[in-house]
Amino acid sequence: TYIGLDLGTSSLKAILMDENQSILAEHAVPLTVSRGAAGWSEQHPSQWGDALNLAMQALQTKADLSSVRGIGLSGHMHGATLLDADDQVLRPCILWNDTRASAEAAKLDSDPQFRDLTGNIVFAGFTAPKLVWVQNNEPDIFAKVAKVLLPKDYLRLILTGDYVAEMSDAAGTSWLDVAKRDWSDDLLAATGLTREQMPRLVEGCAASAQLRDALAQTWGLPKGVIVAGGGGDNAASAIGAGVVKKGDAFLSLGTSGVLFAACDAYRPDAASAVHTFCHALPDTWHQMGVILAATDALQWLSQLTGTPASELTADLGDLRAPSRTLFLPYISGERTPHNDAKIRGQFLHLDTSTDIKQATRAVLEGVAFAFGDCQAALHSTGTEIQSALAIGGGAKSDYWLQVIATTLALPLQVPKDGDFGAALGAARLGMMAVTGRTIEIATMPPILKTIQPDTQLMPAFHDTQARYRAAYSVLKDL
Ligand code: XUL
Repeated sequence: TYIGLDLGTSSLKAILMDENQSILAEHAVPLTVSRGAAGWSEQHPSQWGDALNLAMQALQTKADLSSVRGIGLSGHMHGATLLDADDQVLRPCILWNDTRASAEAAKLDSDPQFRDLTGNIVFAGFTAPKLVWVQNNEPDIFAKVAKVLLPKDYLRLILTGDYVAEMSDAAGTSWLDVAKRDWSDDLLAATGLTREQMPRLVEGCAASAQLRDALAQTWGLPKGVIVAGGGGDNAASAIGAGVVKKGDAFLSLGTSGVLFAACDAYRPDAASAVHTFCHALPDTWHQMGVILAATDALQWLSQLTGTPASELTADLGDLRAPSRTLFLPYISGERTPHNDAKIRGQFLHLDTSTDIKQATRAVLEGVAFAFGDCQAALHSTGTEIQSALAIGGGAKSDYWLQVIATTLALPLQVPKDGDFGAALGAARLGMMAVTGRTIEIATMPPILKTIQPDTQLMPAFHDTQARYRAAYSVLKDL
């Protein structure tokens, strides 16, 4: 059997999978995000260690772990986990949706070698500008940094005692030469760091290290369990969803929103604000449009109204044309297509009759329009998507999927079983590292249903998308 661990922004999930890829047990432990100042978003790694222990103990009570052979890791990307020479965590991890380092990011981005070597804009949420921010604002901490780890690679350090990263997550640091799949000494030097401060690199489906004997004993696992490289949560989700060949795509409605396409070659186009990263399999890459708030936008409305998100989306009835009320989901700034850390959310055209249902529809529509912008950005790079798997917590809402399918004129396939996404991908990467099999393990899940675009309502959504775009261009400078 194999274990998949997915360190998400809002929970750490553990699943146990057998050799036939059936899920035998799962457990999730909630995590919190702290937002100390506007644009900040942090999580203390000690929370991850505690959650890991709780999740493994829960898995142990639900199933026999004595035949586990491999563990795979997935996690939210770009976070800066800073360790001193004794592996002590120096400060809370600065997360992917933290935009405090926007000035530092713009400065690095103006140095052409960053886009040349990484194939991407240096976004404020990526790892390198965060280290420059720490250097500028917390020099005592910067001086002590002995290792910089990505969030899931900190879990690996706990599990194995080794410092290892893999290509898909490393591609989101702004320090990786994404074509060569190696750290760039020049890019590290441009941020005051050296290769000695970075973990060693492996491919996502390769073995990275072995589980510590003491932990194996505590959790009832055998000795010698292999921990695979794993993947950033998007690459891992793609492995879980079988999105591995050119033309395969998924749309993820998690805290962030991602429109992801697998590629057969490295074809970056940084200016489009599309992300071009390594996949978790050797010699493969992927492209994605990333929006910073998908379910996070709904979560915001839920908090504001004191109504659980599931209740907000429960009785929306049949799909209807967008009202004049418009929502721009930029509550944490935006990546694709704007690369704008300063923009914030907007609610437009409220009138005396605007109620919670209408506001909810506007939020779901706003996220769909943001995905529409990602689709256009991918299109501008030559990447076309004919259909996509819908995954992530938000994909439980049929209404939302209808809105998105109609906005994007894109059929969305809903997988049959529970949403195992990135955790399943992680378990599959664990299985690959143990068995040496690769792409054939990453099959597509059985499909429960396909949500088709509503062709009658398409023109209305198209018109509102145009208003949405116009609203951004008018409001961004206000
Ligand atoms: C991708 C990104 C997010 C995080 C959060 O670039 O920032 O999707 O990985 O899960």
